[in-house]
Amino acid sequence: MAEMRLQKFLARAGVASRRHAEELIAAGRVTVNGARVTEMGVKVDPAADMVAVDGAPVALPEENATFLLHKPAGYVTTMSDPQGRPTVAALMADELLAHPGLFPVGRLDTDTTGLLLFTDDGQLGHGLLHPRRHVEKTYLALVEGVPDAGDVRRLREGVLLDDGLTLPAGVRVLEGADGRRAAQLIGEGAGASGYRQRHGGKRGRDALAARGSYVEVRLREGRNRQVRRMLEAVGHPVIALHREAFGPLVLGDLPRGASRPLAEEEVARLKELAS
Ligand code: URA
Repeated sequence: MAEMRLQKFLARAGVASRRHAEELIAAGRVTVNGARVTEMGVKVDPAADMVAVDGAPVALPEENATFLLHKPAGYVTTMSDPQGRPTVAALMADELLAHPGLFPVGRLDTDTTGLLLFTDDGQLGHGLLHPRRHVEKTYLALVEGVPDAGDVRRLREGVLLDDGLTLPAGVRVLEGADGRRAAQLIGEGAGASGYRQRHGGKRGRDALAARGSYVEVRLREGRNRQVRRMLEAVGHPVIALHREAFGPLVLGDLPRGASRPLAEEEVARLKELAS
């Protein structure tokens, strides 16, 4: 964290308003590294300097941390699994050492790959998941067969599932370059490689093209296994599923299994969506 003026530090630490902090400084009640400071404008480095008021140390509240993980297939979205299966927490072990309060924002099925957010900011995490916020998530699915115009219309307008009608969704069957890009992103995710083996042989790729297709689904809700259930309901079961985007965040070229901290502007955009 950058250096800041002493009165701003005191205000951020919740000791006093900036005006009151100036009064504390002028009254000689504040020390920096043991030395009394009475003039205004002194800067402190929150990571290195020791600030005290009336001899009591003062620290800034811990900053929240938010990360984006590229979840591979085969990992359960949980912080611990009694059955001992691989968990997303294991992929975030280093980050959890530094930020033990991290938790996944929502969940991806064990076989689903792609973007999974982690944060230790409860308000942000729960705000993003709140049904009223309607944060958009973008999925790429490899499905059996090719949805026709009627299937796409049903998916867009709302499909009746056992927990009710789905909200309008963005749906397109991906062809040409978009389809090839989706194939690359879904890659060897769970389902896709097994499907290739079953329909494979020498002409595996051709068989896949003939029997499966790639579909982009943009949802503004997040029910359990929703994309799989929607596509199944219109007769095109999902073979492999990948989440490419969550609100304004996209996975980009982050390798599978890797994570990265969000930039300040990215967190600010998420906070806008969550509030
Ligand atoms: N929808 C699903 O069906 N599965 C996921 O993992 C995420 C969304």
